Amino acid sequence: MKSVVDILDLSVAEVDELLATAADIIENPAKYAEVCRGKKLATLFFEPSTRTRLSFEAAMYELGGNVIGFSSASSTSASKGESVADTAKVISCYADIIAMRHPKEGAPLVASLNAGIPVINAGDGGHHHPTQTLADLLTIKREKGKFSGLTVGFCGDLKFGRTVHSLITALCRYENINFVMISPDELKLPGYVKNEIPKDRGFTYTETADLEAVMPTLDILYMTRVQQERFTDIDEYLRLRDAYILNTEKLKAAKPDMIVLHPLPRVNEISVAVDDDPRACYFKQVQNGKYMRMALILKLLREAEKDNAPAKKLSEEGYLSGMKCDNPRCITTTEQELKQLFRVVSPENRICRCIYCDTKKIY
Ligand code: CP
Repeated sequence: MKSVVDILDLSVAEVDELLATAADIIENPAKYAEVCRGKKLATLFFEPSTRTRLSFEAAMYELGGNVIGFSSASSTSASKGESVADTAKVISCYADIIAMRHPKEGAPLVASLNAGIPVINAGDGGHHHPTQTLADLLTIKREKGKFSGLTVGFCGDLKFGRTVHSLITALCRYENINFVMISPDELKLPGYVKNEIPKDRGFTYTETADLEAVMPTLDILYMTRVQQERFTDIDEYLRLRDAYILNTEKLKAAKPDMIVLHPLPRVNEISVAVDDDPRACYFKQVQNGKYMRMALILKLLREAEKDNAPAKKLSEEGYLSGMKCDNPRCITTTEQELKQLFRVVSPENRICRCIYCDTKKIY
């Protein structure tokens, strides 16, 4: 039973297959109008969402399927203390596929280990957001025609911006990409994502706080919102929230064919006047998200029909145990029954990472 919790759950060949299916859906929507007839998607959104939730729902309806879900986390039995694991087992009795958003990092992984149906991570805390990455990849493919040989700037909250983490992970499987990370010191890219960037195959990595200085070099500018909901110190959020505001004046220094992406929602970081610039591609990105989610739902349902095996059990072999994850946003802080396991990433430095949220620990 295949689930997509991390973008790396899809091989490059599978991403290519999804891009091709999405392109075919765009060209021939009628061909796909009945392909999920009789199937149900459960949208389990324990955190707010506009695009991801509604695009999953629109995607399933456009495939001829149905959707079940709840209005808010507070209206579910999670508010009475039901675990993510039990929720996943229960929903497997009602639906054919799950899209889950959860504030706890690793929650969709736990769901996938307990559900008898495919689980798609629709965003877990500040960790991963693989279907936003699929939307981003389709947009880059359609607007730039390639993934390799580009200079890609990520700007804003690179610490908590899960869409940034997932897109970097995805792009690292191509080659000749210059990453330019533009953020204040406090919102720099986490080490576990930075460490994934290859030191060979033509990759370069630059960090700066100065957007204007690097603007003329960029092929893609990926703007992000400073994620208020992830801050424990509101004063720090208020100090950082307007660190970068893209306006038409700043865009004058950009290449004429640079594209501006943003996972949305925006707050203040792109002025509305930029929307009229042909380089602004963030609403195309929204549209592309629906097509890629259609392609993914279809792929996972077809594979589940062929491979009706029960949920894969987590093997403890090869992992470290007997320690606690220090990340307050980790699913292990609320699911007390979960076995805490750590993957060794650097034996020489005694560094391991929580298998649920990737938080570093010295052992
Ligand atoms: N991009 C994105 O995840 O938007 P929502 O939070 O509205 O789903």
